Amino acid sequence: MSSPATSNGREVFELLRDELAAIEREFGRDTVSGVRAITDIGEHLRAGGGKRIRPALLLLSAKLFPHDERSAVRLGAVVEIIHTATLVHDDIIDEAKTRRGRPAANTQWGNSKCVLAGDWLYMQAFKIAVQERNFRVLDLLIDLTQKMVEGELLQMEKLGKCIPLEEHLDLIFRKTACLFSASMRLGAVLGKATEEQESLIGDYGRHLGLAFQIVDDALDLTASEEVLGKPVASDLREGKVTMAVIHALGRCTPAERKLVEAVLEERALVSVQHGEILNLLSRYGSIQYAYDEAARHAETARKAICSFPDSEIKRCLLGIPEFVIARNS
Ligand code: IPE
Ligand code: IPE
Ligand code: MG
Ligand code: MG
Repeated sequence: MSSPATSNGREVFELLRDELAAIEREFGRDTVSGVRAITDIGEHLRAGGGKRIRPALLLLSAKLFPHDERSAVRLGAVVEIIHTATLVHDDIIDEAKTRRGRPAANTQWGNSKCVLAGDWLYMQAFKIAVQERNFRVLDLLIDLTQKMVEGELLQMEKLGKCIPLEEHLDLIFRKTACLFSASMRLGAVLGKATEEQESLIGDYGRHLGLAFQIVDDALDLTASEEVLGKPVASDLREGKVTMAVIHALGRCTPAERKLVEAVLEERALVSVQHGEILNLLSRYGSIQYAYDEAARHAETARKAICSFPDSEIKRCLLGIPEFVIARNS
């Protein structure tokens, strides 16, 4: 029997099980400091779980080529530690109460300690990355970190405002897609890929990341708190206008626009209920629009790697966009 064209999520994580476990151990070892609060905050985040999608992408990308497995594990830990640092800082900025279904670190240790722990985590990630003695790795990580920080700053400046779609796409690229893309590119660098191969692999990561964030933002509007591990419609209540809302605002009546503006202004669902916002979005097919856009990026991601020779790893990469779209948490 011939193997199917794509793999499902379980198959991907099964294939990567040993290396992901090694990354978990590496993460645990790497985030120990002589200062207790740093170790505790790192451990709180690590033990909270998370999908580990970025290290999984890095491993798969490296596996397209012959490469040093030890380096892939190390850089897998690096991208997850950077992700963790961004989450620690993001939860302070967003005044988030929960993360991964548990109290956010800032609620337990306070903002000041969490800012410093986040800084320490960034530097620790770079310290591990330097062990590769590869400037290309550092270039990618520095560029990535600056883009993500700029993204958070730009988002802050736009809070409470309805931004054009292009600006929103730039934000979600910086927030999410550039780390997906960098994870893929780092794997390619370890595999000594050609520039063209690295660029295609990076495009896969970028479009997958865009699809991932568009779905994440749609779920924020539609899913339940139990499933999400954080309160629903957090984005609107934080003053963030995401794709489905931008779509609806471009079509709705002035009275309907006022509903959205009220939530953005009050930073709460008080005078306007969550259901009213959902009705508005469904009236204009805006959630469907966001999912269609996510599906379009997922397809672009798949197409980016179509020229690679057929392999089990390629089948995994071709399968991931589908379950990023289909996920419900
Ligand atoms: C959360 O990323 C931040 C976003 C980019 C939306 P993930 O959804 O990958 O978070 P974890 O690591 O699985 O918790
Ligand atoms: C995700 O941003 C965090 C970063 C990638 C910097 P959000 O604030 O939109 O995501 P959640 O909802 O808190 O995970
Ligand atoms: Mg947040
Ligand atoms: Mg945020």
